[in-house]
Amino acid sequence: MTVAPPSPAEAARAQAIAWIGQAPKRLLIGGQWVDAVSGKTFETLNPATEQLLCRVAEAEQADVDAAVAAARKAFEAPSWSAMSPHSRTRALLRIADKVEAHIPELAAIESLDNGMPLWYATAAATACADIFRYYAGWCSKVLGTTIPSDGSTLIYTLREPLGVCGQIIPWNVPVLMASIKFANALCCGNTVVLKPAELACLTSIRLAELIQETDLPPGVINVLPGFGPTAGAALAQHLGVDKIAFTGSTAVGKQVVRDATSNLKKVTLELGGKAPNVVFADADLDKAIATAVKTFCGNSGQVCSAGTRLFVQESIHDEVAERVASEAATWKAGDPFAADTKLGPLISARQRDRVWSYIGAGQESGAALRLGGKAWNGPGYFVEPTVFDNVKNGMKIAQEEIFGPVLSIIPFKDEDDAVLQGNETTYGLSAAVWTRDVSRAHKVVKALKAGRLWINTFGEADPAMAFGGYKQSGWGREFGAESIEAYTQAKSVMVRL
Ligand code: NAI
Ligand code: MG
Repeated sequence: MTVAPPSPAEAARAQAIAWIGQAPKRLLIGGQWVDAVSGKTFETLNPATEQLLCRVAEAEQADVDAAVAAARKAFEAPSWSAMSPHSRTRALLRIADKVEAHIPELAAIESLDNGMPLWYATAAATACADIFRYYAGWCSKVLGTTIPSDGSTLIYTLREPLGVCGQIIPWNVPVLMASIKFANALCCGNTVVLKPAELACLTSIRLAELIQETDLPPGVINVLPGFGPTAGAALAQHLGVDKIAFTGSTAVGKQVVRDATSNLKKVTLELGGKAPNVVFADADLDKAIATAVKTFCGNSGQVCSAGTRLFVQESIHDEVAERVASEAATWKAGDPFAADTKLGPLISARQRDRVWSYIGAGQESGAALRLGGKAWNGPGYFVEPTVFDNVKNGMKIAQEEIFGPVLSIIPFKDEDDAVLQGNETTYGLSAAVWTRDVSRAHKVVKALKAGRLWINTFGEADPAMAFGGYKQSGWGREFGAESIEAYTQAKSVMVRL
């Protein structure tokens, strides 16, 4: 009898499970994998099965102190501070190659720990290699300026690294978040203490192991799994940290700002969103509808830039609502490793209950429930695609970040009405407009108050395009030239000739 070889998905899953089953997952401090000072550990679960994957060392204040000291030592050491920009480029390219060689494994670990479908995790892990390459190119292009003077002086600026960067990331796309944070900080010559989210920290640990294999000097990256109010707050408050970069909820972002006043460390924030996705009657509806569904269902809606408010011109509202609902109904939920699964579970029981409470609020507020609203039968924190139409922009479901596969379809009259309603939100992370009228497209993107805009697409990313929020969606930018400023500081110098 011959046994069929495992499919690539099965092989990746087996590899991920073997890694998860190995020795305890610990903290990375100064190039060593160590237990927490307290000896404490916490559980990480598979949200698709609700079963324990493994236990992870739990960092607290004492571990943060040790990691910050290690990061400071690495920052001052000539092995990192005096490294030539070209060597730094090569170091980041080696990381990119490592990541690329481990995409299936990283994707499978992510899928087990976060619950996202393997196809989604694979796309995210693939993007990570490109992000390291993008930042590798920047190492030799962090330029200062020369400033015009009368000839009796020479005035110039240097762009220098900030120092030790604390980075706190969420659980929604962890391997991508960790890669963005590491690559941006390292290309500018900083060192890092990264705190992954307690709900999905395993790919950050695996990524750090892979980076260790590339001979980066010890202490340049440190990784501290742990909880927000303990490890996260200790990092945000720490007097030895020069910058804190936070991605997560707006409420915690505000707390991070308060904590950062301890030493006025620099702060950048990538926070929530409630993106308007505006469809005019003249748009290519096939593309607009497929993309509208992908953006609110992708990663089960646990995406800060998701297009969760679909503004549809009145004359096509009913047709679009109908077609969006039938397309969303094809987003089959189930085993994240199955080839036909499009939708994974939410990250936790708490997140599922939170999303359910919004679905209830939508029904109470009188919005029309066109799809979804049925409880999931079986294990896993699943919520199926849920579509409300004829929503009023002032309703709670249209104003608050739900972080689940829940869409509000909102009718609008004309260009001015779309812009007015689109901007009626405390957030401003992303937005899109669908129309074949090129002048209208550019007028509307100019009028929408958000950091990243799309015309006739949604959610596509390029590391060269800055990402970040207007209003309460954040401070500063990641990606693009703007992100180099966010990880450096200017020093100006005058020479009397
Ligand atoms: P959260 O903001 O609590 O978690 C994000 C990260 O912040 C985690 O690493 C967490 O440990 C850390 N953290 C929590 N409290 C902290 C504190 N006091 N100091 C420093 N770090 C702290 O998000 P949560 O509670 O997991 O999700 C709740 C909602 O937040 C979601 O429903 C969603 O609306 C929003 N969210 C938005 C994200 C985004 O990318 N914009 C990502 C995750 C959540
Ligand atoms: Mg988990």
